[in-house]
Amino acid sequence: MQTEEKRESIEEKKEERMEMPVSEALEQGPGKAPVSGAEISVHDTENGHPSEDVYILAIESSCDETAASVVKNGRTVLSNIISSQIDLHTLFGGVVPEIASRKHIEKINQVIEEALTEAHMSLEEMTAIAVTYGPGLVGALLVGVAEAKALAYAAKKPLVGVHHIEGHVSANFIENPDLEPPFMCLIVSGGHTHLVIVKDYGEFEILGRTRDDAAGEAFDKVARAVGLGYPGGPKVDKAAKEGNPHAIEFPRAKVGDNPYDFSFSGLKSAVLNYINHAKMMCEEINVPDLAASFQNAVVEVLVSRTIEAAKQHGYKRVAIAGGVASNSALRAGMEKACKEAGIQFFHPSPIFCTDNAAMIGAAAYYEYKKGARAGWDLNAVPNLKLGER
Ligand code: KG4
Ligand code: ZN
Repeated sequence: MQTEEKRESIEEKKEERMEMPVSEALEQGPGKAPVSGAEISVHDTENGHPSEDVYILAIESSCDETAASVVKNGRTVLSNIISSQIDLHTLFGGVVPEIASRKHIEKINQVIEEALTEAHMSLEEMTAIAVTYGPGLVGALLVGVAEAKALAYAAKKPLVGVHHIEGHVSANFIENPDLEPPFMCLIVSGGHTHLVIVKDYGEFEILGRTRDDAAGEAFDKVARAVGLGYPGGPKVDKAAKEGNPHAIEFPRAKVGDNPYDFSFSGLKSAVLNYINHAKMMCEEINVPDLAASFQNAVVEVLVSRTIEAAKQHGYKRVAIAGGVASNSALRAGMEKACKEAGIQFFHPSPIFCTDNAAMIGAAAYYEYKKGARAGWDLNAVPNLKLGER
């Protein structure tokens, strides 16, 4: 979050750097960030050999958050700066792509500078630059991709392109140093609902996916219909805390031939019908009860299918990822079900569930280690599929 205080501190540090005498700057050497605080450098040596540590500057701009982060060795987050455009899009009841791109352009340099400053590192000290190149809004993605290419070219750093959803999955590595593939992962975001086996870093077997709306999309549409506004997920989550999850019986859709596929459009229609019927009868809608009952229907399906898949495929570790993974009922439901089934449950902190660049830095580390490097022709791929490169 961009606060006035932080902006001021960046400005102060910028001034400090500009005021530094040339001789002092030279003494500090090219590998050191000329800012106060703990100084970390890739040129630090162990037994006279260059350190093997990998520092990645990661950039994320696929939707309505402009984000940058410095991540060390894929698991240690040195900074995580997120400039959210939520207030702006709230006026329109959803993300307006054109406005999102324009805001990214305005914010991206400031956010990157803040990420480096907070990490007490310089661009020169980065091992690589990573960026989300898909899926997402094309204009929004292009801002991050163009920025990352420019920085990598100017600073002569390798460039790593990251899949946004792979980033969401990798958010689990940040706070769980012992988590390693293989494990089962439920990915639930605004645009995606996937049940996958994470076979290795960046390698997925998709067991199931949504046939229609993504889980987050269902939250957003129901929130709008009931007058809670945008962004829907957090608002439904909050309203549901005051409601009875068993007040209204909504359908739990089963999808014919694949037991691990999801469908949320029937549930969404049932909620809309309920609202329309109540309006026609001039009955007042109990919003907390409706929110809690809808949320319960979504959570029950997500939890039961994930646990079933883990049992069927013999996985003892389950993780959740994506914006909806910050939902309090989903976290509690999954925690309980995993405990009962003797499965270890992993989930990122809410700040790493919704869009951020730290998760991109985590995913990029494993790509970088595998030797993945993007060329100067890296482009935004708005409908990039999971597992595609
Ligand atoms: O992962 P994300 O930040 O962006 C995408 O990649 O799509 O996910 C955004 C989605 C939105 O649909 C939002 O309503 C939902 O995640 N979301 C939530 C919660 N927080 C965010 N859904 C339910 N409960 C929440 N607490
Ligand atoms: Zn996302």
